[in-house]
Amino acid sequence: MSVDLNFLQQIGYVFSAMLFIYGLKMLGKEDTAVKGNVISALGMLLALLVTFGNILNPVLIFSAILTGGVIGSIFAIKVKMTSIPEMVALFNGFGGLSSFFLAWSEFNTYASVSVILFVTCLTVFIGGVTFSGSLIAYFKLSEIFKGSSKTLNTISRWLLIVFLGYLAIAMLQVISSSFGFFVFDFEIIKIVFLGLLVISLLSGLAFVLPIGGGDMPVVISLLNSLSGIAAAMAGILLSNTALIVAGCLVGASGLILTLIMAKSMNRTLFNIFFVGFSDTGVSGGEVEGEVKPISAEDTFLILEAASSILVVPGYGMAVAQAQHVVKELGDLLEENNAEISYGIHPVAGRMPGHMNVLLAEANVSYDNLFEPKDLNPRMETVDVVLVIGANDVVNPSATEQPGSPIYGMPIIEVHKAKTVVVLKRSMSSGFAGVQNPLFFKENTRMLFGDAKESISKLVAEFKE
Ligand code: TAP
Repeated sequence: MSVDLNFLQQIGYVFSAMLFIYGLKMLGKEDTAVKGNVISALGMLLALLVTFGNILNPVLIFSAILTGGVIGSIFAIKVKMTSIPEMVALFNGFGGLSSFFLAWSEFNTYASVSVILFVTCLTVFIGGVTFSGSLIAYFKLSEIFKGSSKTLNTISRWLLIVFLGYLAIAMLQVISSSFGFFVFDFEIIKIVFLGLLVISLLSGLAFVLPIGGGDMPVVISLLNSLSGIAAAMAGILLSNTALIVAGCLVGASGLILTLIMAKSMNRTLFNIFFVGFSDTGVSGGEVEGEVKPISAEDTFLILEAASSILVVPGYGMAVAQAQHVVKELGDLLEENNAEISYGIHPVAGRMPGHMNVLLAEANVSYDNLFEPKDLNPRMETVDVVLVIGANDVVNPSATEQPGSPIYGMPIIEVHKAKTVVVLKRSMSSGFAGVQNPLFFKENTRMLFGDAKESISKLVAEFKE
C-alpha cells in the first residue's frame, strides 16, 4: 500500500493549526500562558517537520532553520527586558521581509496567471510596508527617531493613491484574462512590478515616520497584524495550509488588538495614518504651580495613614524593574488595612499588555487590576495614588488643554485623587515629549529617584 505524502502533510498541517489555536486560547490567562506558548511552538515544530517530508533539499532548509534559530535565540537571550518591544517590532519586520522576498521570487512563476499575480502584488506590498514600517517603529521605540511630520502624511496619501493604481492595473489584467487576452504585455508588467517593490518599501517609511508618540501603540499592533496577513498571502502563493492558518491567526488577532488600542486612544485608524497627531508645536503649554519634592520617610507617613491606595505603573517601572518591590509594598499596605488597587492604562509602557505582564511576573492578582474607565468615576474617593514611572498616561493636559499634542487621549485621572505621589528620577517628559501639569498640582508630591530604590526605602520604613 503506497502512502500519499501530500495527504499526510495536510493532516500534519491540520494538527499544527489545532495546536496554534489551542495555544492561542491558553495565552488569554496568566496561569496557562506559558503552557499555551509551548503548545503553539510545538504546532510550529510539527508544521516544519511535515514540510520537510516534501522538499527537495532538506539539508539547505535545515541549515537555514538552524542559522535563523541560533541568531534568534542569541537575540532573545541577550535582549534587556525593556528592549523587548523593539525586538518584537524588528521580528515583525523580518516576517514582512520574508513574505516580500517570497512573493518576489514567485513573481516569474506566476506573472502570467492573473489572479495569482494579484495576490503576488498584494503580498509584496504588505510585506514591504511591514518591513520598512517596522524598522521605523524599531527606531522610534529605541527613541532614536522622535516626533512627527505633516508633510509625510501628505506623501503617504499620495503613495496610497499610487498603490491603488497598481491594484487597478492588476485588476485589469485579471478581468481581461477571463476574456482570453491580457491588457498589458508581460514585459510591461515586469517593469511595473519592480516599481511596486520600491513603492512598498517607501510606503512603510511614509506611513510610520509621521506617527507621533501616543499613536505608536496602535501602529505597532497594526504592523504585527500586517506581518500575519503577508504570511497568509505567502501561504496562498505556496499553497501551504499551515502558513495560511498561522498568518490568519496573527493577522486577525493583531487587527482586533489594533482596533482595541485605537478605541482606547480615542482615535480612528484613518486619523492615525492620514491626519496625524495634533501636532501643534507646543510641548504641553504653560503650567501653573510649583514642584513639591517629598522624602521617602514623609511618603511612608502618608501611606501609613491612607485607607485606599491606587498604584499606577508606567514605563519607568519596567526600566527600574520595580514590579517585585511594588508587590511587596502592596502586601505591606494591605497588612496595614489599606485597600489597594492597580490602575492599568492600555498603552502604559512600550508594548500591549506591558504592565499586565510585569505585574503578573510579580504575582499581583488580576482581580486587583483596573482599567481607566472603572477608576476615573471613583478617583475623588482615593486617598493616595502612587504613580510609579508613569507620565503620559496620567497627563491631565490630555483632558484639560485643547492645544496639547495628546489632547483627546484617555488617561487615568489621578490628579482628581486626594493626594498623588509621583515616583520618577527627574522632571523629564514621557514618550510623547509633552510637559505634565500633574507634577505642578497642589495635591501632587514628587518622590525623586529610581523607582525600585524609592519603593525599597518605603518597604524598609514599613518593616521597621
Ligand atoms: P512614559 O510617558 O514614557 O514615561 C515614563 C516615565 O518613567 C518617564 O517620565 C521617566 O521619567 C520615568 N522613568 C524612567 N526610568 C525610571 C526609573 N528607573 N525610575 C523611575 N522612573 C523612571 O510612560 P507611560 O506613562 O507608561 O506612557 C507610555 C507612553 O509610551 C505613551 O505615550 C504611549 O503612547 C507610548 N507607547 C506605548 C506603547 C505601548 S503598546 N504600550 C508603544 C509605543 C509607545 P524620568 O526620566 O524623569 O525618570
